Amino acid sequence: MVALPKGRVLGAAIELFGLAGHDLRAVQEETRRLVHECGSIRVLVVRAGDVPTYVEYGAADIGVAGRDVLEEEERDLYEPLDLGIGPCRLVVAEPALRPVDLASHMHLRVATKYPTLTRRYLEERGVAAEIIKLSGSVELGPLTGLADRIVDLVETGETMRQNGLVEVETILEVTSRLVVNPASLKLRGAVVASLIDRLAAAVEGRRDL
Ligand code: PRP
Repeated sequence: MVALPKGRVLGAAIELFGLAGHDLRAVQEETRRLVHECGSIRVLVVRAGDVPTYVEYGAADIGVAGRDVLEEEERDLYEPLDLGIGPCRLVVAEPALRPVDLASHMHLRVATKYPTLTRRYLEERGVAAEIIKLSGSVELGPLTGLADRIVDLVETGETMRQNGLVEVETILEVTSRLVVNPASLKLRGAVVASLIDRLAAAVEGRRDL
């Protein structure tokens, strides 16, 4: 069983598995179906942030998860391969017209889907701030007065631009990684190792293109 993330990374993951000899294109054809039988592989399509949970508990043997979600929560997972897909950055941003003046020691509020990474960043910088946890559309935080800054993912920068936000700093460079359940690696070692090898070759092949 393989857990793939819904959304932007799905297409790139399917392409990579294709290069590794597994045709998962059926997954994109029936977008409402959540479990797909693709030859020898059964594919689950789940929320990106839930992939590590399915793999950690063994509901999936293997998954594809972003470095953002992997660093946000400590997990008992084997991470054998950076797939290099879904590149984006976790950044701090603020309204272009209302920049934060840290020297003023105002009560700072930061909205994010990533409270742990945000806390770590603020502590490293020695900045005192209240973290407000949201589940999506974090860019609304500063627009509505809920927060002064946000910590969120940027891919093309279009969402920030359309909402009048500018980047202050990059916290983390993100790509998606292969994650493996440690018990699956022991129980199905040969199958899992061979899939990891073929995906590693596919990643190399893609890099050479
Ligand atoms: C992500 C991220 C930004 C946006 C960035 O959100 O949280 O909102 O994509 O992409 P861009 O730089 O290419 O504009 P996503 O679409 O995954 O949904 P969410 O806001 O509900 O988390």
